[in-house]
Amino acid sequence: MADELFIPSDTNRKAIYEALWPQLQSVVAGESDTIANTANVMAVLKEAFSFLWVGVYYVAKDHSNQLVLGPFQGPLACTRIAFGRGVCGTAWKEGRTIRVDDVDNFPGHIACSSKSKSELVVPIRRNNEIIGVLDVDSEHLADFSEVDEHYLEQIADLLGKLNYA
Ligand code: SME
Repeated sequence: MADELFIPSDTNRKAIYEALWPQLQSVVAGESDTIANTANVMAVLKEAFSFLWVGVYYVAKDHSNQLVLGPFQGPLACTRIAFGRGVCGTAWKEGRTIRVDDVDNFPGHIACSSKSKSELVVPIRRNNEIIGVLDVDSEHLADFSEVDEHYLEQIADLLGKLNYA
């Protein structure tokens, strides 16, 4: 794994995601621990894009029908989200990526931080089963596009392939 991240000084997010992709693959290839790898992937995303919050919620293994907070970067966050609640619980329930341009217009949005204005949540699948979600929050309205959707789905796919034994 490279000691330092290379982030192009580019305002084009597509170019940044493209530059990050091989580095993310290299980061996770050098380590077998899933929490360590997931934590580093969140750190890379936070550093590259300065998102307000980026993290993972996992489907809890305690049969509570809730998501539970995993590795993240950003302000303090709620630890549990019920199935079907908020953007995260809805993405889990509906099994699809949800992009919210204005969180105030999303019924049931859970405001972990009052600074969050827009949000993108991508399910993480392992063998076709949803095991968690990747959640990204921004301080700006409508900060996410199809480009973020595309690359964060690719990154969620990478997270789903980690070792969850
Ligand atoms: N806003 C999310 C909750 C998680 S925080 O943003 C970190 C939601 O509505 O599910």
